[in-house]
Amino acid sequence: MNIDAPRIGVIGAGVVGLTVADILQKTSKANVTVMADGFGEDTVSAVAAGIFRPGTTFRGPTKEITKKWINDSWHYWQDILKSSEANHAGIFSFNCYVYSTQSYQATRNRLIEDLVPYYKEMTEDELRIAGGEQKYGSCFSTVKIGCDNYLPWTEKRLKRNGVRIVREKVESFESVKKKYDLVFNCTGLGARYLCDDENVVPIRGQIAKVKAPWLKASFYSDYADTYIIPGIDGVATLGGVRNYDSYNKKFNKHDAAAILERCYTLLPPLRKALVVGHRVGLRPHRDIVRVEPEILGDLKVVHCYGHGGYGVTTAPGTALHAVSIGMDLLRTKHKL
Ligand code: FAD
Ligand code: BEZ
Repeated sequence: MNIDAPRIGVIGAGVVGLTVADILQKTSKANVTVMADGFGEDTVSAVAAGIFRPGTTFRGPTKEITKKWINDSWHYWQDILKSSEANHAGIFSFNCYVYSTQSYQATRNRLIEDLVPYYKEMTEDELRIAGGEQKYGSCFSTVKIGCDNYLPWTEKRLKRNGVRIVREKVESFESVKKKYDLVFNCTGLGARYLCDDENVVPIRGQIAKVKAPWLKASFYSDYADTYIIPGIDGVATLGGVRNYDSYNKKFNKHDAAAILERCYTLLPPLRKALVVGHRVGLRPHRDIVRVEPEILGDLKVVHCYGHGGYGVTTAPGTALHAVSIGMDLLRTKHKL
C-alpha cells in the first residue's frame, strides 16, 4: 500500500464496479478498495445474457456521449477478445440475426451499424433459408461477455494487483467519507436507496438456460423480447421478459413456458435441448444513465449507474468516462 496515494472506494461488484476498479488499477497509482454486499451470482450482471447489443432505451446525457460510451466499450471488449485472456474472460465473437415480421427498421441498430466489422440487411434468399414467417432481417458480428467468467476473472486480477475487495453493505456516503478521498457509486438498482434516486427503476427479466453446444450464432425476433444467445460453455441463454417497475425476483413458470415456446418457434432444433436452469434479474433502468460527479461535504463521489438492460455492453465506456471525471476531481482538490 502506498501511503501517499489517493484512497479510492468503488461501491459495487457487478460488471460496472469491477470494470471501474480494473481501469483504476491499470491507470492510476491509487489504493483501490471494492465494497459490495453481493458478488458473482448475487449480482444482476451474472444473470445477463451478455451480448454486446445496445438498445434504443440506452441513453446518456447527449447523443454524442451515448455514442462515445458505446464505441469505447466495443474497443475495450475487442482488446480483451484479441488477447490471450479472451477465453478466461468469457469473451467470444459470433454473428447475430435479428428478424422481424413487421419492418426492416425494427431489425436495425443504428447505434452499432457503423461500429461492428460486419453489418448487413439480410437478403430474401437468406430469409428464405431461415424459414418461418420472418420477412425482414439484419445480420451483424458482435461479441458476448459471459459474466460467469468475466466477474471472477476480473476479481482475481484485481486481487493480484493489490486491490482490496470487501463484503460490506454501504448504508450511506457519510459512513465511508473518512476512509476515502474519492468514491465511485456503481450500485445499479442499489442507487435507488443509497442516493435516494427514484429515477432508477427495476425492469424484471427472466431467462432460461439450455444445453446447446451446437449453437454458434445469436437470434432475435421482434416479438416480446425473444432472443437466443450462445454460451462459451455450450449453455445458451433464451429470453426473455421485461416487467417495468417489478421487484419480483421469483422464478415464474408461465414466463418460462412462454420464453421456451417463443424460442422454439424461432429456432425449432432447440426443442431437443435440455433445459438446465432459469434465472431472474432486475435491470437497473434509468432514463438517462448517470455518470457524473457530486461533492457531498468532504467526500467526492462519481456516480456510474442506471445501465438498464445494457450494462454489460456499455460498462467499459461509462467506466472510462467515470474514471476520467474522478481523476479530474482528485486533481482539482476541493474545488467544483
Ligand atoms: P449489478 O450487477 O446489479 O451490480 C451492483 C453491485 O452493487 C452489486 O455488487 C451489489 O451487491 C452492489 N450494491 C448495491 N447497493 C449496495 C450498497 N448499498 N452497498 C454495497 N454494495 C451495493 N446487458 C447487456 O449489455 N447485454 C445483455 O445481454 C444483457 N442481458 C440481460 C438479461 C437479463 C435477463 C437481465 C436481467 C439483464 C441483462 N442485461 C444485459 C443488463 C445487465 O445485466 C445490467 O445492465 C448490468 O448487470 C448492470 O450492472 P451493474 O454493475 O450496474 O449492476
Ligand atoms: C435483456 O434481456 O435485457 C437483454 C438481452 C440481450 C441483450 C440486451 C439486453
